[in-house]
Amino acid sequence: MAEEAILGYLESKDEISDSGQFATERGLDHNEVVNVIKSLHGFRYVVAQDIKREMWILTDEGNAYTVTGSPEVQLFLAIPPEGIPKEELQKKLDPSVFKIGSAQAAKRKWVEMGKQLVTRKIQHVEDEVKNLLLQIQDGQAVNQDEIKALKARKLIVPQTWKGYLVKKGPNYAPKRKKVATDLTRENLQRGDWKELEFKEYNFSAKGLPIESGHLHPLLKVRHQLKGIFRQMGFEEMPTNNYVESSFWNFDALFQPQQHPARDSHDTFFLQVPSTTKQLPEDYVERVKQIHESGGYQSRGYGYDWKREEADKNLLRTHTTAVSSRMLYALAQKPFVPKKYYSIDRVFRNEAVDRTHLAEFHQIEGLVCDRGLALGDLLGVLKEFFSRLGMSKLRFKPAYNPYTEPSMEIFSYHEGLGKWVEIGNSGMFRPEMLLPMGLPEDVRVIAWGLSLERPTMILYGIDNIRDLFGHKVDLGLIKKNSICRLGL
Ligand code: PHE
Repeated sequence: MAEEAILGYLESKDEISDSGQFATERGLDHNEVVNVIKSLHGFRYVVAQDIKREMWILTDEGNAYTVTGSPEVQLFLAIPPEGIPKEELQKKLDPSVFKIGSAQAAKRKWVEMGKQLVTRKIQHVEDEVKNLLLQIQDGQAVNQDEIKALKARKLIVPQTWKGYLVKKGPNYAPKRKKVATDLTRENLQRGDWKELEFKEYNFSAKGLPIESGHLHPLLKVRHQLKGIFRQMGFEEMPTNNYVESSFWNFDALFQPQQHPARDSHDTFFLQVPSTTKQLPEDYVERVKQIHESGGYQSRGYGYDWKREEADKNLLRTHTTAVSSRMLYALAQKPFVPKKYYSIDRVFRNEAVDRTHLAEFHQIEGLVCDRGLALGDLLGVLKEFFSRLGMSKLRFKPAYNPYTEPSMEIFSYHEGLGKWVEIGNSGMFRPEMLLPMGLPEDVRVIAWGLSLERPTMILYGIDNIRDLFGHKVDLGLIKKNSICRLGL
């Protein structure tokens, strides 16, 4: 349609001076005309030159007034000849209509906004605003002062209109020649390939997107974090056991058996198999001792420690369960200092909301050496988090059954303009380390944080369900950008 019209017109005329006018006169859609012009220009049937015009279009508010009338006229019409109390008039109108209408009507001296009564000062008004808006909508010219006033009221906004001036091109023909896109067997047999005109290759055309696997944002951030730990000389701990005994998850960490976190409301316990098969018996005995009556200068908790509680299987609530296994293993051999890390999944029986799921990933690091102090922990945390791009840190005293002292870690978030909690840390207690059999002067500094929190901040995701779980948009997984921490 549009193509025929354009080529046909140029057969007898020199040029189409304005594609917009051309489209309107023929009842064609300008977008379609533009597309055809671009294509014809590409094949040099025509030569097209850009033309631009500043136009005005109505905002939503402007559009609304073309139907309802301007607020000042709506307000004027709502005033009966005898006047009306202000409150009553206010009740009759939309709040915004009342507000804008009273200001405008007063400015135009149409109404008297008395203390008690609002009255008309004239008997009849014209809705000039509505009329002007209709004219603009219709593409008619409107004088500059009016335009200024409507723009100031945000009823119209400027828009650049783009179209073309079109002339015949070097390949002009009244009808587009059909070009062949394939050379077929028939073409060869018939010999008509000699006459055929072939479509040129478009070497800059984009190919189809390649179907392939894609990495989830959590995996990308984890990959970066692993790199950071490795650069800092940390070894990865084996975290491939989601099922753990209460013993390693809690008891070995000096977490008393009545602790609320050990309740089924907070922890997922296994029904089958409900208990662990094996624990190192002599160590279990020392753990029982430290809980019940203390030792190594500790008073313990003074309660009756039950083996059945320690045997219960659960889905690990933190990767610190793995740290306790690793430290115990370390204590069984002549001591060597170690730096360990892990990044893996943990489970908590929590109410699910925008920021919490019943499973998430924990990042954990620990350093184990003779004579470490709190200053070492502060230094390692500064080093680690600055590599993540968080160099402003603050610490707040906290409590964990297995660390003393313990500190919550906060980082200043430039985007949010505030301090946000990013992790938890501390020095493992002697009540945890000494029953394992570690030498007395060995100290362990450790910290933990979630993988989800930094990932959400990095990718600008504010609902965890958009990141993890069955509601995640696969498009996000395919398109998410490369992760670079610390830039
Ligand atoms: N296990 C702690 C948590 O679940 C994190 C932590 C690890 C705290 C190591 C101190 C030391 O939050």
